[in-house]
Amino acid sequence: MMGLQASYNNNMVAIVVVLCLVMNVAIMCNAGKTSSFVRKVEKTEDMPLDSDVFQVPPGYNAPQQVHIMQGDHVGKAVIVSWVTADEPGSSTVLYWSENSKLKKQAKGKVVTYKFYNYTSGYIHHCTIKKLKFNTKYYYEVGTGQTTRQFWFKTPPEVGPDVPYIFGVIGDIGQTFDSNITLTHYENNPKKGEAVLFVGDLSYADEYPNADNVRWDTWGRFMERSLAYQPWIWTAGNHEIDYKPELGERKLFRVFNTRYPVPYKASESDDPVWYSIKRASAYIIVLSSYSAHGKYSPQYWWLKDELKKVNRSETPWLIVLMHAPLYNSNDDHYMEGESMRIVFESWFVKNKVDVVFAGHVHAYERSERVSNVAYNIQNGLCTPVKDRSAPVYINIGDGGNIQGLSNILREPQPDYSAYREASFGHAIFDIKNRTHAHYSWHRNQDGYAVEADSMWFFNRHWHQIDDSTTSKSEIQ
Ligand SMILES: [Fe+2]
Repeated sequence: MMGLQASYNNNMVAIVVVLCLVMNVAIMCNAGKTSSFVRKVEKTEDMPLDSDVFQVPPGYNAPQQVHIMQGDHVGKAVIVSWVTADEPGSSTVLYWSENSKLKKQAKGKVVTYKFYNYTSGYIHHCTIKKLKFNTKYYYEVGTGQTTRQFWFKTPPEVGPDVPYIFGVIGDIGQTFDSNITLTHYENNPKKGEAVLFVGDLSYADEYPNADNVRWDTWGRFMERSLAYQPWIWTAGNHEIDYKPELGERKLFRVFNTRYPVPYKASESDDPVWYSIKRASAYIIVLSSYSAHGKYSPQYWWLKDELKKVNRSETPWLIVLMHAPLYNSNDDHYMEGESMRIVFESWFVKNKVDVVFAGHVHAYERSERVSNVAYNIQNGLCTPVKDRSAPVYINIGDGGNIQGLSNILREPQPDYSAYREASFGHAIFDIKNRTHAHYSWHRNQDGYAVEADSMWFFNRHWHQIDDSTTSKSEIQ
């Protein structure tokens, strides 16, 4: 009798579970979704200074904090950067392609800086040029007994149907959660070949006197990815370092000294806004914390820059910035509004495929909407569905010391397709000129689980509706 009762109970549980799943799918199909996923709420903490991920590599003056970055506009050059602690040593990089025994040398330069009572190690930057596309290279830095070897793979030649997989990460910091985010990215079965990083790197400025030792720990922690694939840097508010009380008035000085980008290759005069091409993507990086009003340098640069994009060469037009233009989280609400007013109409006119932003420590994906009709007199100030508009993705959920932004504004706006306050990363998987598969991966799931996903249809080549909620037919 007891056995029959248990069996009946089990069946009922199964029926309820199936019903819940069906209802859940129905909800997902019909409207924007606010996830009910339950996550831990404890405050996240930076990993302590004696953590294994922060260990200094062994050997006298051993190169540390090794990282690479695309060094030109198309991907035939790479900037290699590293730090030596004891003495300048050598700024030369030895490199060779996988199938060649011929080792070449590139000479770099070394710089140091002071920040209040901190003095940096010797920071080396060396640009390797004239590389072959789609080729694995090994490289070696350091001298004498203390050399270290790494490798990178150059991107395929720029072209319209070149598949390429980007990781997308923001606001990562150096907490235990940051380490989980990085580990999840590394173990995702979809292997990102470069990362679109939307700002806020080390959060060193959260420490007294913006203790730059935390830039060094961050560089050592992140080396396991940064030395092997480029992270396309965007400046966040934690990179500004405007601290007059410490005598620091030059914006982004530490960030720009440590993490160079090829801004001159896109005729920019400032490293915090620039562009690169990589495979089939044209990536424009903007600075939320630099002037962007009409007639500002960034305004003029972007106006000219958008004219240079040739969708027959690079179908995928991607914009990175730190402060999101669309998000329905209570945190940093409307902070991107000044940039939206100036640049949104250009994004629509030029059919930008996607805008990735961070800053808000949660995840949110919008439908394709624009809000460009308002002229201060006509009252038309509601976002409307717009097939020429980008999808706005807020991915400031890398796991930093400030924790999650878990107050979601109610009701969820119609333009908001999916939102959740969990840490994670995303993958933008370009298949060809018309299709890209996008997925968001929360840290608590298995490596292959897609907590949110959509197929992107390219706005230039395949401009049909790719919305994922019926409510996105906003009037
Ligand atoms: Fe931020």
